[in-house]
Amino acid sequence: MYRAQNNVLAPSLLAGDPAHLARSVREVETCGLDWLHIDIMDGHFVPNLTFGPATVAALRDPFSLFFDVHFMLDNPADYIKPFAEAGADLISIHVEPAYDHAKTLRGIRDLGCRNGIVLNPDTPAEAVEPFLQAVDLVLVMTVQPGFGGQSFREDVLPKLEQIDRWRKERKQHFRLEVDGGINVETAAACRRHGADTFVAGTAFFQAPDKPAFMHAIEDPRDPSPA
Ligand code: DX5
Ligand code: ZN
Repeated sequence: MYRAQNNVLAPSLLAGDPAHLARSVREVETCGLDWLHIDIMDGHFVPNLTFGPATVAALRDPFSLFFDVHFMLDNPADYIKPFAEAGADLISIHVEPAYDHAKTLRGIRDLGCRNGIVLNPDTPAEAVEPFLQAVDLVLVMTVQPGFGGQSFREDVLPKLEQIDRWRKERKQHFRLEVDGGINVETAAACRRHGADTFVAGTAFFQAPDKPAFMHAIEDPRDPSPA
């Protein structure tokens, strides 16, 4: 479920049916996917609110999907324990707010979860560089976080490539994830710039043929050269 090499599609629950979340998660599982992306927003770091730990816990038992939990919180350190106990498999935290990032990343692993560091479209790659040896995933936001359905920011591609270059040079093994405006075309562009993990909300849940969408992302028949 957490393999270093393969391409992974992680549908974002934010674009699921808010009145029937479990049905939306079942759709993800029925496609044969392994990952589910769950956005946690606090109304401060981003101007929106989403799910609390009780919702994650309620979805944990019926499903064996890998829960990729993306914190958009001003004070993430206060919430790693409740979400780990709720069943998160990976918790990623933004680099922008001021708190002890290294300690929080260690804390996530100490709670038995994988960890990730996230950066916004306008945050330079150098902001996450000190943490690369201590994370399982780097999440490069390809929209300003807060809402689904926004347009992909192409200007983020060089930063993605820079982080992938560091990963190769240093022989590191973190996953490189993109989130925001991801569809078959933008995923292909991200793949060419080093991404291996693709969050898709709107494009997944609105895809008329979900297995075909999944194969186009995870197992592209005609991958463009890197
Ligand atoms: C945005 C969230 C995303 C969102 C992506 O802040 O982090 O995970 O669900 O939605 P789409 O794929 O619709 O851009
Ligand atoms: Zn997200």
